[in-house]
Amino acid sequence: MAQPGPRAQHRPPQSLSSTLQLALLAVVGLAVVVAVPLFLTSSTLAWFESTPFFGTHTSHSMSSIKNVAVAGGTGALGTPIVEDLIKSGFNVTLLTREGSTSKAPAGVAAVKAVDYKSVESIKAALAGQHAVVSVLGSLAAGEQTPLVDAAAATSSVIRFIPSEFGVNTRKTPGTAIGGILGAKTGLVDHLTAITKTNKTLKWTGISNGHFFDWGLVYGSLGIDAKSKTVTVYDSGNEKFGASNLPYVARAVTKVLQQAGTADDKTANKYIEIAGFTPTQNEIKAALEKISGTEWATAKAKTADVQKDAEAKLAQGDYSVFGALLSVWQFADGAGHAPDLSSPESGNQLLGLEPESIEPALSAWWSKQ
Ligand SMILES: *[C@@H]1O[C@H](CO)[C@@H](O)[C@H](O)[C@H]1NC(C)=O
Ligand SMILES: *[C@@H]1O[C@H](CO)[C@@H](O)[C@H](O)[C@H]1NC(C)=O
Repeated sequence: MAQPGPRAQHRPPQSLSSTLQLALLAVVGLAVVVAVPLFLTSSTLAWFESTPFFGTHTSHSMSSIKNVAVAGGTGALGTPIVEDLIKSGFNVTLLTREGSTSKAPAGVAAVKAVDYKSVESIKAALAGQHAVVSVLGSLAAGEQTPLVDAAAATSSVIRFIPSEFGVNTRKTPGTAIGGILGAKTGLVDHLTAITKTNKTLKWTGISNGHFFDWGLVYGSLGIDAKSKTVTVYDSGNEKFGASNLPYVARAVTKVLQQAGTADDKTANKYIEIAGFTPTQNEIKAALEKISGTEWATAKAKTADVQKDAEAKLAQGDYSVFGALLSVWQFADGAGHAPDLSSPESGNQLLGLEPESIEPALSAWWSKQ
């Protein structure tokens, strides 16, 4: 069944709204000419600036996306994404696996159980949705193909955000870590192909580097609170990209706020964002400052770690992902930290300010 497009549903046709705005501007302009000499106070100026008539750009930067379906929205990353979307005024529907007992975050408009293997089942659940955000886990990444096909088969979904997040999988093909991330790479290839012919649907891939706050809790940054030891790979001076989970959520919201507007800078693009690009030595120094004591260093050579991990991977041991990830980001000369000041960086395209590493470190340390 054809759904009316999001533009038609959520705002008047452009020509009508432009005419209205011109008329309103004329009225306001006249009022300014008459009133300003009489009441030129800061409060009246503030009122004019706060009116929706001021600045025609306001309507162009208004989002044309309202209804957002989130797949996998109850996990460690899915929850802050759903929360940020709701806080930002989106109408969020949660897609869940049939039989799932996960609890939906507060404020979700609807929870719809789907069969992730069935395009028909997902398509029915996507009726009236304007965007799909997939936060399905890495191992389930292959399951995203029917989700993409269902989104493309609707006429309402205009943006698909695949479950990329983490490392930039566009850079991994042909590497050991790329062998584990193959399903993700394949899905972005599929999106690229499908959106070449289907002009309604567009996609945005978001890579955010290491999940920093999560990594502190789950030990993936090589930081051990008990022994106050940091495992430092190679020199410890290589910059790497990392983001706290709420920061990743902010990026998702910003992509959807731009999508379908004149400000859309991420359509059919793979972007890299990062809250910060620290080195391991900078993290260690920050920990010492926060804790007020010295921390020990355990040295590791990425060449050895890589060799060992590849041998295990050849035996089908996928648990080496963490080791390969450490090499990917910490090895001297790896060069995988995004340049946050580049005009093409996701941070610049979305207007995301970098953060300091300290709040997340302090919050984590205070719980040890
Ligand atoms: C919000 O989403 C729900 C579930 O998809 C839908 O039933 C409802 O109509 C939506 N609300 C608005 C205002 O579009
Ligand atoms: C492309 O989008 C249209 C809606 O605009 C949809 O009906 C169609 O099935 C889509 N095509 C493909 C190949 O998915």
